[in-house]
Amino acid sequence: MLRIGIIIGSTRPNRNGKAVGKWAYEIARKRSDAEFELIDLKDFNLPLLDEPIPPSLGQYSHEHTKAWAGKIDSFDGFVFVTPEYNHGTSGALKNAIDFLFKEWNNKAVGFIGYGGASGVRAVESLRLVMGELMIADVRAQVGLSLFADFENFSVFKPGPQQAQAVNTMLDQVIAWSEALKGLRKISFSSGS
Ligand SMILES: Cc1cc2nc3c(=O)[nH]c(=O)nc-3n(C[C@H](O)[C@H](O)[C@H](O)COP(=O)(O)O)c2cc1C
Repeated sequence: MLRIGIIIGSTRPNRNGKAVGKWAYEIARKRSDAEFELIDLKDFNLPLLDEPIPPSLGQYSHEHTKAWAGKIDSFDGFVFVTPEYNHGTSGALKNAIDFLFKEWNNKAVGFIGYGGASGVRAVESLRLVMGELMIADVRAQVGLSLFADFENFSVFKPGPQQAQAVNTMLDQVIAWSEALKGLRKISFSSGS
């Protein structure tokens, strides 16, 4: 069975990201075409990238990196739940992405963005990063507006169409995760 990790990409106190991640996970786990796990970046307590050797060489020295690498390696595809901070993704999510390399390669990803402008610019910024990590980013994405999908910008009340948007995005993530299975057996050179 394919394994898809849903990653909560914000870590600050009072974050909206946890409610969004839990909601997406509850929708996903009703499906029978993949297994899903909710991953909270906060639980991994990663410092700012502190590995002395570039992650693309795969020589991790710290226990926190090995724990994060082991978790990410166990999945075939991902959903990044990203806030929009200053027109980009969160520093915490970008840092967690930067920590690893081969554990991301030849897998698929879909996005759930949220914020004042539904997280669309945060998702676009992540799409630029995905190519370097050889993660295939699917077209369908979910955009949650602080104005329409939250009360008082903090109580998550997604519009009725949003659950279908999650499933449409998951359809694509699962199809691409399956299609890339063959590539995951190949080790590409990390040369840039
Ligand atoms: C540092 C910071 C920068 C933000 N910048 C933007 C922004 O550029 N565009 C936007 O639409 N919303 C922006 N927002 C609103 C956030 O997207 C919104 O507060 C969201 O809930 C943040 O995710 P979190 O609660 O999980 O941390 C910003 C919020 C913070 C804290």
